[in-house]
Amino acid sequence: SDNWISSISIDDIPEDDVIGVTVNGHQIAFYKVEDEIFATDNICTHGHALLSDGFLEDGEIECPLHQGRFCIKSGKAMSEPLTEDIKTYATRMEDGQVFLKFS
Ligand code: FES
Repeated sequence: SDNWISSISIDDIPEDDVIGVTVNGHQIAFYKVEDEIFATDNICTHGHALLSDGFLEDGEIECPLHQGRFCIKSGKAMSEPLTEDIKTYATRMEDGQVFLKFS
């Protein structure tokens, strides 16, 4: 069954940037681009690096360790050395809070 978990205040996500937060025991990266919120796992699928320490540009997050890039919307691995996509989460806004869907 769907499980919507309150995570972070919308205002706490920097515009055109990324922030890492632990939600429900998972390390999640939140992104805000043109008032749209996206959420992915924060730990890179390639190694133990946090995407929230990376660089967000053109809808892609670049991992700080080996510069692999993921699409923040689809989670798709866009460049080497990545071989595995990153998990994305559906988001819902309510009362200024972002809710994440865990299933
Ligand atoms: Fe992210 Fe290698 S750990 S690209």
